[in-house]
Amino acid sequence: MDHFSYRARALFCEDVPVRQLAETYGTPLFVYSEATLLHHLSQLQKAFAAVEPLICYSVKTNGNIHLGRVMAEAGAGFDVTSGGELYRALSAGGIGDKIVFAGVGKTDAELRYALDTGVFLYNVESEAELYALADVAKSVGRVAQAALRVNPDLPPKTHVKTDTSVKGVKFGLDIDTILDVAQGVVDNPHVRVVGLHMHLGSPILSAQPYRDGAAKGLVLIDQLRKQGHPITVLNMGGGFGIHYRKQEALPATAFAAEIVPAVQKSGCRLVLEPGRFIVGNAGLLLSRVIYTKESGGKRFVIQDAAMNDLIRPTLYDSFHRIWPVEPPQGVPAPPEDYEADIPGTVKCDVVGPVCESGDFLAKDRRLPPLARGDLLATFSAGAYGMAMSSNYNARLRAAEVLVDGDRHRLIRRRETYVDLVRAELEV
Ligand code: LLP
Repeated sequence: MDHFSYRARALFCEDVPVRQLAETYGTPLFVYSEATLLHHLSQLQKAFAAVEPLICYSVKTNGNIHLGRVMAEAGAGFDVTSGGELYRALSAGGIGDKIVFAGVGKTDAELRYALDTGVFLYNVESEAELYALADVAKSVGRVAQAALRVNPDLPPKTHVKTDTSVKGVKFGLDIDTILDVAQGVVDNPHVRVVGLHMHLGSPILSAQPYRDGAAKGLVLIDQLRKQGHPITVLNMGGGFGIHYRKQEALPATAFAAEIVPAVQKSGCRLVLEPGRFIVGNAGLLLSRVIYTKESGGKRFVIQDAAMNDLIRPTLYDSFHRIWPVEPPQGVPAPPEDYEADIPGTVKCDVVGPVCESGDFLAKDRRLPPLARGDLLATFSAGAYGMAMSSNYNARLRAAEVLVDGDRHRLIRRRETYVDLVRAELEV
């Protein structure tokens, strides 16, 4: 359940009127619901309870350390993909033996940092990386535990830019070369291949790819064990889809039904790396209408959030539900079907102030008539919103606020003009 709801024609985050947050912290503002965050984590914990998984929250999705702290306190580990994300995970209270390190291009410096931190598992994506990991481990007198990331070569599942397990992408080891690579390190004293990793893509709205991936994984685990590798970990990655357009996501139990039996058969410990499933529906982007205008036969709503705050529509043509925080009489709540002819609405493009034609949050979207000063909520913005934000056009990155019941607190202050030039002044 998501804790955003309309009560008497006003949007609430848990028990806080969203208007109050705009007035207190300004806009654009990312608003997160702690109850939603915890609810989604616990759905995964419950669905997979039979195999006691290590659930590593994917820091790339939303790396705010205050959200990370909530995750760590609720028992999650972390999935990191750079030295910077490792730093964020540690700052949030993460501990090395609950951290997994993914990514195709880990540098020696990052590997050294991770080894010093006692990171539990390295998801290795190439033969060269496997040897680099062994070399760095040797130089610091440690033994690194690796999970080989396999590209299981499954049919396309997501947007072409976020599909990671089809042939020809940069991720993982080809399924037909992985055993040769593994053979090369059977006796290596500095790297132990203890696991198999796959991340199928994101967001995935069907359980089938997990069934197919796990089946291929079981065969590989068997083969790796026969080579002499002590395989004890199966990491099935993240990728579980969420609600963007409508209630379209599968429950965690649907994914568990495909993954748990395979894990039990393998005798492995399960690691998961979900991000979007936990934080995606737990956040919205709050903005304020600056102007409206008609141009070229179209209606534009120009508001103060832009592609630098939420780049998903620009980058992937992603659909995010958008609705006024206080809709007018007659159109109380966001519709289930945005394509339908909703009475009292008009088609418009919701755009930001950035100097790019691709700067939009929605195109040809039916919305109630809006005026200067109105507040808008862009839903399902908790994942890959703030994390992919930038200072393009020298725009200040948005503030972030966390709501818990009837309380709210700033978890990232709005940037200032000085923040924009600080690194240039400090030279
Ligand atoms: N593990 C690995 C190795 C990953 O590459 C990713 C995401 C995850 C876990 C977490 O996936 P999730 O559970 O959040 O679906 N920016 C895109 C999504 C890129 C996903 C990158 N990898 C978007 O906004 O849709």
